Amino acid sequence: MTIQRLTKTVLACTVLVTVALTRPLPQLASVEGLGASITDGKPSLVLAAEGEGASANNHSWKGHQEVIEELEASRTPDVIFVPTPQDVVEIMLELAEVKRDDLLYDLGCGDGRIVVTAAREYGSRCIGYDIDPQRVKESLENVKENNVEHLVKIEQQDIFTLDLSEASVITLYLLKSLNTRLIPQLEKLKPGSRIVSHDYDMSGVKPDTAFTVDSIEDDYEHSIFLWTTPLEKVEESDE
Ligand SMILES: C[S@@+](CC[C@H](N)C(=O)[O-])C[C@H]1O[C@@H](n2cnc3c(N)ncnc32)[C@H](O)[C@@H]1O
Repeated sequence: MTIQRLTKTVLACTVLVTVALTRPLPQLASVEGLGASITDGKPSLVLAAEGEGASANNHSWKGHQEVIEELEASRTPDVIFVPTPQDVVEIMLELAEVKRDDLLYDLGCGDGRIVVTAAREYGSRCIGYDIDPQRVKESLENVKENNVEHLVKIEQQDIFTLDLSEASVITLYLLKSLNTRLIPQLEKLKPGSRIVSHDYDMSGVKPDTAFTVDSIEDDYEHSIFLWTTPLEKVEESDE
């Protein structure tokens, strides 16, 4: 090999090594927008914004199928899944005056319809929490189908273990007894935060407003309650 050919070969190898070292690694988070982490021996499933959100949340990022396979039931849900009709969802979000700078938590998010609607229609950041792996899976799929991964996270969590202090809007479709059990957590919300509940009141705290609406979707009458923090305590027993 001549000196010239040898120099050319060395140069070509250098270029190849440089390209290989500087090429960005494939980011599963950006492609799938899905992540999972195991905390306290329980899987905590998260769907989050790519890039910044991913590192801020300190999750390890995995493919969709892998995430779903890791879902396990931690305990029986306190209430079964019944979806809020979409027209009632719209009224709940309007009543809460959801805005772009809100952080909305749906406690027991079911198929994710409330968080997806809030993100899609108001551009607000949302987290949907559910204890049931099947619901988490459906919510993750709903978020992905609606391309709101950059705004919405879904986590498999027991809502009674959550710190709600960062949220500014809370949506509920649980039971009166469960809403009431959440009061100590709801009291940690910042002043001016809104809590909207479908069908169920809360004992011992006075709603700002309560009314019924007829859903065109299911032909039933639905109650809606709104509270604004700080919660106003009233004498009332839980039944
Ligand atoms: C009636 S559904 C409401 C679903 C959704 N928020 C909606 O309005 O369409 C109640 C949801 O709460 C979930 N759930 C029940 N107990 C829970 C708990 N302790 N922690 C988290 N989610 C729970 C159930 O799995 C179910 O998906």
